[in-house]
Amino acid sequence: MEEENIHFEAGSSFYNPHMRLCRSISSLSVGAIEHPLEICDGFSSTGIRGIRYAKENPNVSRVSFVEFDNSAAELCRKNIESNSVPGELFEEEFNHHMMGHSYNLVELDPFGSPVPYSYFAMRSFRRMKEGYVSATATDTAVLCGAHYAACQKYYHSRPLHNEICHEAGARILLRHFANLASEFDFGIIPLFTLSHRHFFKIFMRLEKGADKAVHNEKEIGFINFCGKCGWRQGNPIPLAKCPKCKSETEYGGPLWLGKLHSKEHIKKMGKLNENRNYKDKTEIEKLLSLMQNEDEFPPYFFDVHRSCKRFGLHNPKPIEEIIAALKKKKYSAARTHFSPTGIKTSAPPSVLKKLISSK
Ligand SMILES: C[S@@+](CC[C@H](N)C(=O)[O-])C[C@H]1O[C@@H](n2cnc3c(N)ncnc32)[C@H](O)[C@@H]1O
Ligand SMILES: [Zn+2]
Repeated sequence: MEEENIHFEAGSSFYNPHMRLCRSISSLSVGAIEHPLEICDGFSSTGIRGIRYAKENPNVSRVSFVEFDNSAAELCRKNIESNSVPGELFEEEFNHHMMGHSYNLVELDPFGSPVPYSYFAMRSFRRMKEGYVSATATDTAVLCGAHYAACQKYYHSRPLHNEICHEAGARILLRHFANLASEFDFGIIPLFTLSHRHFFKIFMRLEKGADKAVHNEKEIGFINFCGKCGWRQGNPIPLAKCPKCKSETEYGGPLWLGKLHSKEHIKKMGKLNENRNYKDKTEIEKLLSLMQNEDEFPPYFFDVHRSCKRFGLHNPKPIEEIIAALKKKKYSAARTHFSPTGIKTSAPPSVLKKLISSK
């Protein structure tokens, strides 16, 4: 097999070529950290993720691969050797491994949710002043509210099952890690947060300090959403009634209301992407440029088609025209990476209603 010029054997082990973009964008993030990193590629399967991190980024000094499946571990060992990656394979269960090891960056890439492993990942930083956690979640349906009870059970949070479910889902995942980080006296700084196809990827910096840990908790709240009139807002508490039309809200949370990305970090990732000939280079460039401005807006967006339907209107204008019209009215507005038909704006639904349709 080959992925981005790395030759490796996959045999009958798990290798998903559709996750190439996830590995590439994460590798850019690893490179953008700049200082030396010893990495744990937990859930390594063939090892392609950790091998790419090491081969593509000169700041990666060593990678430990963790994989509990015997045949996958065997292949991973071969792939590490054939690619001359400095590091070793641990054929053991991830949580068990993390009881006795610590790293600068821990990669969580299990099947489904990272929740069963996040505690031991976070705990492994307990004697350190800083660190990085990179986590993939493929339980998108759970985080987006298709399985309401599962989200309550796993994330202790109420999901939103509506037009902004992907942004709310990413924020529920971040809140899970923020809570754990607080327990170990770390603040989290999300470096990038991605919702793409069927997965979420969050990449966080941890900084030690009781005040920083307390600050995490201040960034946690709810998104209150009115399906009737389209009003929505991030608040510290859930609101039962919409303040505009008095209908019942569909609130989501608790979730992370703070920043999703570090502008500085995304800029560095963009620079690295320019110099790498990734097959997903153009798509990554688009995603990074959309992420760059997302944090200047409230923690939600408006879907053009859903909004039109809600307002009883037809024929929405092209997105760029709506954005230009909002800006003309002195509201900030931009596209979002969370949805191709989404607009982030400081304008209320009443203003959007007047501008959204060409009829
Ligand atoms: C989603 S795949 C990893 C994909 C890989 N990181 C990549 O980028 O191609 C998950 C892998 O984790 C392994 N795994 C699952 N649970 C584990 C655990 N608790 N400890 C160690 N390995 C585990 C599975 O055998 C599987 O190979
Ligand atoms: Zn309302």
